Amino acid sequence: MTKVAVCGKGGSGKSITVALLARVWQDKGYRVLVVDSDESNPGVYRALGFDRRPKPLLELVGGKKQVFPAFSEEAASPGSLLTQDAFRIADLPGDYVVERDGVGLVCVGKILQSLEGCACPMGVLSREFLKRLALQEDERVIVDTEAGIEHFGRGVETSIDSVLVVTEPSFDSLELAAKISDLAAEVGVAPVWTVLNKVSSKEIAAQLQQEMAKRGISVIGSIGYEPEIFQAGLEGRPVRRDRLETDIESVLGQL
Ligand SMILES: Nc1ncnc2c1ncn2[C@@H]1O[C@H](COP(=O)(O)OP(=O)(O)O)[C@@H](O)[C@H]1O
Ligand SMILES: [Mg+2]
Repeated sequence: MTKVAVCGKGGSGKSITVALLARVWQDKGYRVLVVDSDESNPGVYRALGFDRRPKPLLELVGGKKQVFPAFSEEAASPGSLLTQDAFRIADLPGDYVVERDGVGLVCVGKILQSLEGCACPMGVLSREFLKRLALQEDERVIVDTEAGIEHFGRGVETSIDSVLVVTEPSFDSLELAAKISDLAAEVGVAPVWTVLNKVSSKEIAAQLQQEMAKRGISVIGSIGYEPEIFQAGLEGRPVRRDRLETDIESVLGQL
């Protein structure tokens, strides 16, 4: 498993989980690339400890309007690096990646203006970027997706090989996990894991486990409702893992 998409409801804890998983994999010796494919929420770079976002990949293909023509069947010749059949992380121009201690970040693109049109080009670019990105043995990719399931409609999951669903304790979140599991199966992505997040007691963990079992979904573990994660989210800074009660390595280290 090398390219994992982290999915779930808005606010369930996807970006935090992405940042925590990146560090867990870094500790194991992997070189990790986080792909920020959430066109709305700005902050995964802060959760990862970077002080700025890299330039959006959209600019590398010449802007939003160029995405469909660049990746169409009729596209004349490989215009930019991203339209080549395959490229590696190391090939990406420096402005488009921020990197520290073996964890890198690229950003597909953000919605910048009102009335700028839909975000479909970002979905297409995410899909094509992930499809063409060739990984070395020691490299892994984590995709921070936008909330909900539109990325399945845009086919992003056809370019990744596993899904991690972050589920918070709410009925909608459980239902969304089941839906994501079905959608992933439809496009042949396996495995699909679920991590329970913001779990405030053992009883709630047990109740959620039961609900997931009813829906046929396998759970890798649960992350508590952690004051440190809450505070880091409020301050826009990385989580300090030494302040967590949850043994993050034993939950996310299974991936
Ligand atoms: N386990 C947790 N305990 C406490 N707060 C959490 C936890 N997980 C996430 N949060 C908080 O919830 C908010 C949403 O998390 P975030 O990762 O941005 O969600 P998403 O990317 O799914 O929209 C953030 O303010 C974050 O700090
Ligand atoms: Mg997010």
